[in-house]
Amino acid sequence: MLVVCSFLFFILGTSAVQDTITPSQSIRDGETLVSAGGTFELGFFSPGNSTRRYLGIWYTGVSNRTVAWVANRETPLTDHSGVLNVTQQGILVLLDGMNRRFWSSNTSRTAKNPVVQILESGNLAVKDGNDDDPENFLWQSFDHPTDNLLPGMKLGRIFSTGLDKYLSSWKSSEDPAPGQFSLWIDPHGFPQLVIRNGSTLHYRAGSWNGLSFTGTPKLSPNPEFLYRFELNNEEVYYEVDDQGRLMSRLFLNQSGFIQRLVRTTQSKGWTDVYDAPENRCDIYSFCGAHARCKTDSSSVCACLDGFEPESPEEWIMSNWSKGCVRTRQLNCEKGDEFPKYIGLKLPDTSNSWFDRSMSLQECGEMCSKNCSCGAYATLNISAEGSGCLLWFGNLTDMIEYDQGGQDFYIRMATVEKDDKNASVKKQVGIIVGSVILAAMLLVGLIFYILKRKLKKQVDGLFSVKSDVFSFGALVLEIVSGKKNWRFSHPAHNHNLLGHAWILWKEDRPMELIDDNLGDSCPQFEVLRCIHVGLLCVQQRPEDRPNMSSVILMLGSESSLPQPKQPGFFTERNLPETDNSSSSNHMYSGTDQITILDGR
Ligand SMILES: *[C@@H]1O[C@H](CO)[C@@H](O)[C@H](O)[C@H]1NC(C)=O
Ligand SMILES: *[C@@H]1O[C@H](CO)[C@@H](O)[C@H](O)[C@H]1NC(C)=O
Ligand SMILES: *[C@@H]1O[C@H](CO)[C@@H](O)[C@H](O)[C@H]1NC(C)=O
Ligand SMILES: *[C@@H]1O[C@H](CO)[C@@H](O)[C@H](O)[C@H]1NC(C)=O
Ligand SMILES: *[C@@H]1O[C@H](CO)[C@@H](O)[C@H](O)[C@H]1NC(C)=O
Ligand SMILES: *[C@@H]1O[C@H](CO)[C@@H](O)[C@H](O)[C@H]1NC(C)=O
Ligand SMILES: *[C@@H]1O[C@H](CO)[C@@H](O)[C@H](O)[C@H]1NC(C)=O
Ligand SMILES: *[C@@H]1O[C@H](CO)[C@@H](O)[C@H](O)[C@H]1NC(C)=O
Ligand SMILES: *[C@@H]1O[C@H](CO)[C@@H](O)[C@H](O)[C@H]1NC(C)=O
Ligand SMILES: *[C@@H]1O[C@H](CO)[C@@H](O)[C@H](O)[C@H]1NC(C)=O
Repeated sequence: MLVVCSFLFFILGTSAVQDTITPSQSIRDGETLVSAGGTFELGFFSPGNSTRRYLGIWYTGVSNRTVAWVANRETPLTDHSGVLNVTQQGILVLLDGMNRRFWSSNTSRTAKNPVVQILESGNLAVKDGNDDDPENFLWQSFDHPTDNLLPGMKLGRIFSTGLDKYLSSWKSSEDPAPGQFSLWIDPHGFPQLVIRNGSTLHYRAGSWNGLSFTGTPKLSPNPEFLYRFELNNEEVYYEVDDQGRLMSRLFLNQSGFIQRLVRTTQSKGWTDVYDAPENRCDIYSFCGAHARCKTDSSSVCACLDGFEPESPEEWIMSNWSKGCVRTRQLNCEKGDEFPKYIGLKLPDTSNSWFDRSMSLQECGEMCSKNCSCGAYATLNISAEGSGCLLWFGNLTDMIEYDQGGQDFYIRMATVEKDDKNASVKKQVGIIVGSVILAAMLLVGLIFYILKRKLKKQVDGLFSVKSDVFSFGALVLEIVSGKKNWRFSHPAHNHNLLGHAWILWKEDRPMELIDDNLGDSCPQFEVLRCIHVGLLCVQQRPEDRPNMSSVILMLGSESSLPQPKQPGFFTERNLPETDNSSSSNHMYSGTDQITILDGR
């Protein structure tokens, strides 16, 4: 403490350190207020190489100035004549040398004896006399955040006044004006933490599940931080308490990432302990509706069971934005099923309904009775779980996690014989669609003067071998009418790829074909699809054909090489898995994964 104080005395020269001003005092450019413990300083500064002057609050003792809050973000002064006053009513005013007003605070009440204080938390408060109760502050900077959420600061909305407390990134490191990105608690449906890019949803940390946000399962629980989420009739907010053990902040940077940064008392910089969004699965609705994204899989996006790509052509080309649609129409009156998914990031809750006291069973019954309810989940997964969350409308922005994630129940038509024919027709439709696409590309490849250019584009589109892998897996799924990830066989432990491979080796590939598909397609065509499918899913990426040759293979009758063993054809058996029930991970891990012997 002594060291800090003497340091402050040193940098402030002879002027005494103070943390308050009253209407008879002011802060001129060059003067500062310092919080009682010496952590924060209020004054005028210029960011980066800019010469413009801003009033702000920054951390002391950090080698690169870290600005926590800026008053006049959009109205900088161009010279050093700035002065901060507080009026007799308790309003802060920022004036220049000509007494022009550049910024002011606002208050609905007036003070008898206003005092402005920079608090040790980093909050700039206008108080009445010695009333230190934050509830009674006339105004506080914590209600008007910039791009940093400090401990004790609430992100959220006060319903009665409509006051939104949100972060907005700086425009650039030299311009603190509000930039493109903002971090909000979106109060629609069950509230969610989101990053917006302009007005577009960019990232959704999602709904609070009692332990963490559904999209940040890694963050729970952490003894260093107490995360608090509160939703009542007056307000909704999110707050982080670092319990004073370390100095931390949540920062929304100019590229649209939230970073949790920690400083220890010894270090003069910051350590980044958590970033979001972490990968492309985190980008809002990356897989479109009714699909889930897998970070560690070659297929990246997968339709929910009972759904198929709305646009198979685009889906094959790794454009997942259109998402998936139901293969079978629901029949609410006859009764639908609600199969359980595990380990998910729950979808967008902006169109949801919730109840805190219902049990999971009551929740399921309620959803089942209301035909517009498409899915349900437990609201609060802490302890034994409580409450109910119901979804209406499409289900968007899901991730399937390896660890963590939540249980989720989705309305699904009960499978009946009559429905099957319709589904077969759709499957045939997909095959025909793929073949037409292949034919179109083939025509393009063969005829146009632009042959080379086009080929280059096609190669570019499909250059990633894992996309070829996903295509192969998709082809095998279509032909067999089964999903790879939930495939199981009484005789062995392999997934659909492994099963297809065994049948191929045993020279009975036709047994793979969906019964319902049997007579409706010429056998040699289907056989060729299986053959090409197996070539695409070979274990070694270098053995897999590239997409333009796949298209040629599908469209011609030339002879094909024999496929080698596929990659990822055995389910991972995790003996150490304790609580999670048998989750079938299909393309587990990366290309380097050790494949168990297939025999
Ligand atoms: C601001 O404070 C300074 C110094 O106390 C004073 O000279 C000036 O008149 C004040 N301006 C206003 C508008 O209150
Ligand atoms: C400030 O100016 C120097 C010299 O022109 C330049 O090297 C540096 O990158 C600038 N800093 C920023 C933050 O733009
Ligand atoms: C203070 O806020 C009220 C209501 O939000 C608004 O009407 C008024 O113009 C504001 N005053 C200043 C000085 O910004
Ligand atoms: C943000 O939106 C702008 C304009 O729509 C777009 O150009 C940019 O790529 C987006 N940024 C991110 C990170 O998505
Ligand atoms: C979630 O449930 C736990 C245990 O019942 C409870 O302590 C906690 O307050 C609940 N959280 C919310 C946000 O309702
Ligand atoms: C924002 O944070 C991300 C993630 O830590 C980082 O990759 C990126 O460089 C940061 N952007 C800026 C402008 O600092
Ligand atoms: C200060 O900023 C410079 C330039 O951005 C960087 O190289 C340096 O590591 C920073 N220092 C600390 C302690 O963060
Ligand atoms: C899902 O629903 C939202 C609003 O209900 C809509 O904006 C969005 O376009 C839908 N997404 C898809 C893929 O249908
Ligand atoms: C993906 O498809 C959509 C139309 O569904 C289109 O607007 C978009 O440009 C496509 N994206 C790419 C990268 O091709
Ligand atoms: C189904 O739920 C929606 C949304 O809560 C509600 O508006 C509608 O009245 C419910 N329908 C029935 C039949 O209960």
